[in-house]
Amino acid sequence: MKGVLLAGGSGSRLYPLTRITNKHLLPIYDRPMVTYAIEAMVDAGVTDMMLVTGGTHAGEFFRLLGNGHEYGIERLLYAYQDRPGGIAEALGLAERFVGGDQVLVMLADNIVERSIRPVVERFSAQERGARVVLSKVVDPSHLRHLGVPELDGDGRIVRILEKPDDPPSSFAVTGLYFYDGTVFDVIPTLTPSGRGELEITDVNNWFVSQGLMELDVLDGFWGDAGESIDAYYEVNDFVRAHGANHAEPAPD
Ligand code: DAU
Repeated sequence: MKGVLLAGGSGSRLYPLTRITNKHLLPIYDRPMVTYAIEAMVDAGVTDMMLVTGGTHAGEFFRLLGNGHEYGIERLLYAYQDRPGGIAEALGLAERFVGGDQVLVMLADNIVERSIRPVVERFSAQERGARVVLSKVVDPSHLRHLGVPELDGDGRIVRILEKPDDPPSSFAVTGLYFYDGTVFDVIPTLTPSGRGELEITDVNNWFVSQGLMELDVLDGFWGDAGESIDAYYEVNDFVRAHGANHAEPAPD
């Protein structure tokens, strides 16, 4: 399975912290944000990776990661996104790298408490289609900033709403996505959303409409450190107290 790490975007929600650097290079406790997503993927056995970034600080990723070997990455390729045209657009840049394989896409501002290895193993065994990873989020005001699935009585996804005013469930769609090679046929069919981006939620809803979407629910903490300054500090506090990417539940 290939890994695609998305670290582009404008970082506007963490402005002015992002005026002088890329959001994913900001510290989370004792190291740069992007290294947590890398660790999650490498620990799960995904070591053939492409990092997509953009903007004026892209070169800093070379300085931090180099060829990736120090981080356990076997092969690290880089792609440059000209403008923040959306998560799905950024993924589209990895088409040739992925080359029809299964792919794990991870947003580089997402941080998880527990190892994602079990989820990676379940997708490896999945014959076709896509898989999203949900996290329980009870607060509706938080869900309004995220992708939220509507579930049927069997716990299958009926559709995903992006930043809904009225969240249809208490789950967030996290920034961990799994696809088979057909995802690159879907991306060119998308049209930009109201915010002018190619939305990953539209990609996911295509797989839902085909009956090809599976899901997992994460155990433990999940945080999107790029959501707001408050979320950034909440993730920092959690990681400082409990760490991240644990194979077993973290001790209290
Ligand atoms: O974190 C989970 C959420 O991520 C999901 O619940 C939402 O469904 C999904 O749309 C996404 O929402 P955000 O509004 O948080 O996405 P954002 O625009 O912040 O982008 C998330 C990451 O994707 C960001 O850290 C960098 C990368 N990105 C984003 C854009 C817009 C790119 O690489 N290129 C881009 O053009």
